[in-house]
Order: sequence, then structure tokens, then C-alpha cells
Amino acid sequence: MEARIATLPGDGIGAEVLDESVKILQGIAKTYGHTLSFEDGLIGGCAIDATGTALPEHTLEACRGADGVLLGAVGGPRWADPLAEVRPEEGLLELRQALGLYANLRPVRLYEPLLDASPLRPERLSGVDLVVVRELTGGIYFGPRQEAHKNGGTAFDTMVYTAEEVRRVAHVAFGLAQKRRGKVTSVDKANVLASSRLWRCVVSEVAEEYPDVELEHMLVDAAAMHLLRKPADFDVIVTENMFGDILTDEASMLTGSIGMLPSAWLGEGHGGVFEPIHGSAPDIAGQGVSNPMAAILSGAMLLRYSLGLEAEAQAIERAVEAALDEGYRTPDIHVDGSVLVGSEEMGDVIAERIE
Ligand code: NAD
Ligand code: IPM
Ligand code: MN
Repeated sequence: MEARIATLPGDGIGAEVLDESVKILQGIAKTYGHTLSFEDGLIGGCAIDATGTALPEHTLEACRGADGVLLGAVGGPRWADPLAEVRPEEGLLELRQALGLYANLRPVRLYEPLLDASPLRPERLSGVDLVVVRELTGGIYFGPRQEAHKNGGTAFDTMVYTAEEVRRVAHVAFGLAQKRRGKVTSVDKANVLASSRLWRCVVSEVAEEYPDVELEHMLVDAAAMHLLRKPADFDVIVTENMFGDILTDEASMLTGSIGMLPSAWLGEGHGGVFEPIHGSAPDIAGQGVSNPMAAILSGAMLLRYSLGLEAEAQAIERAVEAALDEGYRTPDIHVDGSVLVGSEEMGDVIAERIE
């Protein structure tokens, strides 16, 4: 197969993890006889420096024309002035909205060899295999907003949802649950928020179309607790934009590190954008020590969802598992007795294990 992939490295560790992901995809292309072409684009802080905007028109066009998009991470202290006129993170929000990618799949898979890398006790963790379906183009990220410094010291953000926005992401969650263990946990704050009460009603309605899937509702504060108390009980979690953002950083620690979690932004009419859930990690940027596995596993998700190459996606996941099995670890997942490697060496180790 021939496919065009837009690559957006972004800022901080974005480029270093993306390099390893591209290396693995090139290895897959060679092994399986595909032709993948890659075109780099600017997004985030580096795009602001070069063009004054976080998502230049040229980048958006490259993404529209690509079969799939692979993204590193954006942001950093250089652009974090709360009074700044433009922010790197806007690049992500604009891209999500422009491409209509409203469903964010964030699989939380615990690789067995990493049982010892999580702060939780191993007996709590065995069987952890869940997916968070995060709504990605609505809610408080996109509702009416006012900045305090321009408006006499008063600021607000607004969490807005329409029934249709809830319905379409709920369908994604139930469809996914049907192919998994048949359970959806819908997370909201319906005891306080009007948008959550709408969320709960619509998700319950959608559930009636999926009699083979069990639905439970959970309040977000309790969900944050249950994720640590009984993480293996979850199958598919569906939740609004900001709750999903926060809960997935929390859930990443079940797997040992935020450097392990890939994600897919999906919608209709575009192949999708794939990125690690972590950020630009300014505290370790430029040292070559970041964990590239989340970016590499995002590459696997691109093969699976954009290109329909399931066998190739699994080959990447098996190679990651093999590297971990043999004890290779970046510093974020390092324990006594494991083999400490940097980002590039980890990429090489995984590339060599592609069958
Ligand atoms: P972060 O995810 O960048 O880092 C949080 C912690 O996790 C840091 O200690 C970091 O070193 C560590 N970490 C993250 N990825 C890692 C990896 N691959 N390997 C090893 N350790 C890793 O979150 P932050 O520090 O809160 O945010 C930094 C910047 O990134 C901010 O500007 C934020 O807006 C941005 N951000 C961007 C994205 C994105 O591009 N999708 C996501 C989250 C945050
Ligand atoms: C993520 C990030 C982004 C989000 C920010 C950087 C806009 O935290 O992708 O998880 O909150 O969606
Ligand atoms: Mn986040």
C-alpha cells in the first residue's frame, strides 16, 4: 500500500519521540512492502516563532491531504506567559476542530513486564486493559471564554454540549465496547453540572441501541478514585473533554509512565491524528532520555485506524513488548536490574524486533 503521512514534531521532546516513531514505521514499510511517505509540518511554539500562529495554513493543508497525521507534542515555558496573545496549545485545538476529530481513543494497556514500574502494587494492576474515549471538540475547551486581563479582572470558561455532540461520541464508545469486554463507564459530574446531566441522559439513550453492552454511570471524582482502587474493572470509559484529559494522565501511571500512552483522534472524513498523550516534557527536553514508546504505539494506531493495517500495528505492539520483556527501559520506567537506554537506543531496539 501507498500512504502519505504528515508528521508534526512540535516542541520539546516532540521531535525526538516522533523520530523514533517514524523509524519504526519505515521499518514496517520495508518489512511488509508498503510505501509510506512523510511530510513535516510546523505546529505549536515552533510554528508561532516561525509564522506567528500555532497552526499555519500550510500545516493544516498538509494534514487535510494526508492519509494520517503523526504528532509529537507542543508547548513549553518559552510560550507559557499567561498574558501571551497566542499559545502553542491552540494549534492542537484548532487542528482537532478543523478536521472534525471528536473522538479521542486513549488505550491504557499494561504491559506485563512493567508491573514493577507502576507506583501501584502489582496485585491491583493485573488485568488492567481499558480505553478512555474522550470527547475532543466540545466542552469547556471550546465554549465561550473571557480573559481577565482584558475584562477588569473577571475570567470565565464555559462547558457547553449539544445532545448531538454527546451522542456521536457515545456511539464510538459503545461500538468499541462491543468488540471488547462489553462494558461502558460513562463519567460525568451530573450531581452539579447541567452539561453533565445532558451527557447522562444522552448516553443512557444511546445505550438502548446496544443491549449487549452494560452501562454504568460514575461521577468524575469517584472515577478518579476507582481508577486506582479497582482499575481492572474498567473496560471502556467515555467522558467529556477535560475530564478525559485529566483521567488519562492519572491512568497512565497504572502502566508505569505517561511515556507509554498513545492516542488517536478520530472522526468522519479524515484518517485521524495520532499522538502520545504526554506533552513536550520541558524538564527532560534535549537530553535524549524521553520514552518514545507512546509515540511508537501511536504510529501503530495510525496503521490500524488510518490505513487498516492491523497485522502491522500488532507487529509494532509485539516489538514494544519484546523490548520490555528483555529489560530495556528508558529512565521513566527504569527499575533495578533493567537495561537503561535513551530514546534513540530504545527506538533501535524496537526496530530490530519488528518481525
Ligand atoms: P508533560 O506531559 O510534558 O510532562 C509531565 C511529566 O511527565 C514530566 O515530568 C515529563 O518529564 C514526563 N514525561 C512526559 N512525557 C514523557 C516521556 N515520553 N518520557 C519520559 N517522561 C515523560 O506535561 P507538562 O509538563 O504539564 O506540560 C509541558 C508542556 O506540554 C505544556 O506546555 C503543555 O501545555 C504541553 N502539553 C502538550 C501536549 C500535547 O502536545 N499533546 C500534551 C500535554 C501537555
Ligand atoms: C493533551 C493535552 C492538550 C489537551 C493540551 C496541550 C491542549 O493536554 O492532548 O492531553 O488538554 O487536550
Ligand atoms: Mn493532556
